[in-house]
Amino acid sequence: MSEHIDISISNGVQIIRMNRADKKNALNRPMYLAMADALRDGDKNDDVRCHLFLGLPGIFTSGNDIMDFMLAVQGREGLGDNVLKFLRAIITVEKPMLAGVDGMAIGVGSTMLLHCDMVLASPNARFKTPFLDLGLLPEAASTLIAPKVMGYKRAFALLAMGEELNAEQGCEAGLASTITGADNLEEEAIAAAERVASRPPGAMALTRRLMRGNRDEIVARMEEESSYFAERLMTREAQDAFLAFMSRRK
Ligand code: COA
Repeated sequence: MSEHIDISISNGVQIIRMNRADKKNALNRPMYLAMADALRDGDKNDDVRCHLFLGLPGIFTSGNDIMDFMLAVQGREGLGDNVLKFLRAIITVEKPMLAGVDGMAIGVGSTMLLHCDMVLASPNARFKTPFLDLGLLPEAASTLIAPKVMGYKRAFALLAMGEELNAEQGCEAGLASTITGADNLEEEAIAAAERVASRPPGAMALTRRLMRGNRDEIVARMEEESSYFAERLMTREAQDAFLAFMSRRK
């Protein structure tokens, strides 16, 4: 449970909403756990036919809470159990997973989209993964999936160079499926999710499983990245970058 993740189920769609406006929907550990649990519980619940991630108007998520990175450094914990649970959950989820993106989708906010079956983006959506700016490396098996989805060079620009993509570029790169009207992202995302929910669930599960490729390979890459991530967190490069972010506003 997290006060910053709202869960609701209606018409076969489980909406998992990130709701931490004052921190631009930065994801802290309880939020990761709540989202991982929602995917697992939803997969077991017959009332749920698909999952839909939403943020708030103007912000999908600013990615991992940088304060949590600093706590992880102090505790020498690496990404931590809750983050790993979430990353495993988005790779192994059995039911279709959709997202509706308005505003920034930063870090894991972008890499999680690689695991979604359908992503609707508003014209204001922006995709950015500043992992290297923080002295870190990409996660969520994005080093495996992004080059396949968008080609090596575009994946390099996104993941290694931290280039920001707008809604159109995000669609071209395969992070999003379609761009909605400016004012009706949620309406359209829910309607799309309801269409997915209306498909025969057994046939859907089989189709997804075959289309998503070798799950063990994807989990293994995520774990490999995570172990490097734990090492990178302990570097001066990373810690200086966290401090720079946390002190920049003062
Ligand atoms: N972790 C922790 N706190 C964050 C955060 C994050 N990822 N993103 C934003 N916040 C906090 C800010 O510290 C600020 O807190 P404060 O009000 O207590 O000072 C608050 O959210 C608002 O952020 P602010 O930077 O003032 O808003 P903005 O509109 O100027 O910029 C972002 C929004 C998302 C572009 C900017 O906050 C940002 O770049 N965040 C970091 C993104 C990032 O590097 N994520 C990690 C990816 S691996």
